[in-house]
Amino acid sequence: MESAIQSQKEAHRSSEAMDSEMSKLGSNLITKFHVLMRISQIYDSKNVALNQFIQESLLAINTFIQREGTLCLKIVADDIFLNEQRLRYSVEGFNSFKYLVTQWKKRLIGEVLYKEVLNEETLREFIYILMSLEDGREENATLFNEKLRERHISSIEAGPLEVSEMEEGAYTLRKEDSREEAKKVFFETIGTFKEVVTHIKGNQHADVRKLKRLVRKAVHLVMEDESILLGMTAIKNYDEYTFNHSVNVSIYSLAMGRRLGFSRGVLSELGITAMLHDIGKSKIPLEVLNKPGALSDEEWGQMKKHPLTGVEIVLNLKQLGEVNAKMVVGIFDHHLKNDLSGYPKLFRKKRVSLFGRVIQIADAYDAMTTPRIYKKVPFTPEQALAVMLKDRDVCFDSILLKMFIGLVGVYPIGSLVLLDTHEMGIVFRPNPDPQWMDRPQVILVERNKRGKGMKELADLTERNGGNNFKRSIVKTLDPNKYHIDIAKYFL
Ligand SMILES: [Fe+2]
Ligand SMILES: [Fe+2]
Repeated sequence: MESAIQSQKEAHRSSEAMDSEMSKLGSNLITKFHVLMRISQIYDSKNVALNQFIQESLLAINTFIQREGTLCLKIVADDIFLNEQRLRYSVEGFNSFKYLVTQWKKRLIGEVLYKEVLNEETLREFIYILMSLEDGREENATLFNEKLRERHISSIEAGPLEVSEMEEGAYTLRKEDSREEAKKVFFETIGTFKEVVTHIKGNQHADVRKLKRLVRKAVHLVMEDESILLGMTAIKNYDEYTFNHSVNVSIYSLAMGRRLGFSRGVLSELGITAMLHDIGKSKIPLEVLNKPGALSDEEWGQMKKHPLTGVEIVLNLKQLGEVNAKMVVGIFDHHLKNDLSGYPKLFRKKRVSLFGRVIQIADAYDAMTTPRIYKKVPFTPEQALAVMLKDRDVCFDSILLKMFIGLVGVYPIGSLVLLDTHEMGIVFRPNPDPQWMDRPQVILVERNKRGKGMKELADLTERNGGNNFKRSIVKTLDPNKYHIDIAKYFL
């Protein structure tokens, strides 16, 4: 036990020593593997569409092997170790990181040793054998090696996943910075929420205690620095729409609630209410929910029931603790609209509750800026805000809407902007200083590279030798016109 702690500590220490070049090579490698693993599930191994991805991955992996002699990729708890050094994950690499860990873990593969540089054929075989392994089969590593040998590949060796009893301990030994913590909370919340929804769908008992715990963590993060969690909302389509959407609405609501001066307790209630705002949709058949065309009257009727169904579900959630009227009403209200022209229809006029008004805004903004089956090209953040402003009297509380615009900024996180240096940038983080609201941090994007060619982060308050700003925003651009996948920059 003690030696396990010791080795964790050592691993931790040596990971700190991983130089930045190695880190870059490593992250690049994981990203390339991620893409290749995904692509391999779409095309068969002989498809020419694969060539480019094979080449890119090959370059990444062979560069590493040429430098280090061999490459051992190992998964320990939720971390990836490359030749015994822990790879630190980055915002831009998180999705790939997570994908690789999940996919390998699912197949109980914990380690792969690449003994020499690979050729195209070997890499191709490797990926297809890996992805064809059945989930959860204990003998997968052996099977993997057998299949490699059958194809006369001796340069790669796979090992099984070792489940360490220290997983929990390893987690606490590490001191996370807020951004990493935020990513964890974000992804964990999506996963946990998904579980809750699945249980509700199947009329099973849904335990929401973990979800409540995660919301409390999110409240803590928002109190510390709202921009970190807000940045997570730019990751659209991480998973099925409903899950990602619910978590995003919760984040926007929390950030608004914080500006409204809510206490931590009230913020937690708001966060969980926002997360559950569409829970009623779990009772609507998927064919209706994901229907690409217009809904029939009957289907629309079903759809309109979701706020009320949501209330019923929440009232039946045992572990939610004392069910608070604010939460129930917040869910009931979220489609009422400011002038009560929405749904459900009311018999007696009332004012939309504060929780309801906050959630309406967060809900509309996130729904508009996310691609959907029936609307593949979403609004840009700027377009969405413009639509909301136009509808403000009918749909929203205009004071809260103004506050929301202040929150997401003049250039909301995820906006694509043209700079006076002719570079393009993606707004990554608003400037915390209100006087520099128009000078956020941006990720520089290379033009005409379809979102690839990720470059460095630039702070637009940076000045040249003289007193001039190095870069300034000229205008916002529509990422769809430039084929830029914004989400990729936040994963
Ligand atoms: Fe809804
Ligand atoms: Fe919604």
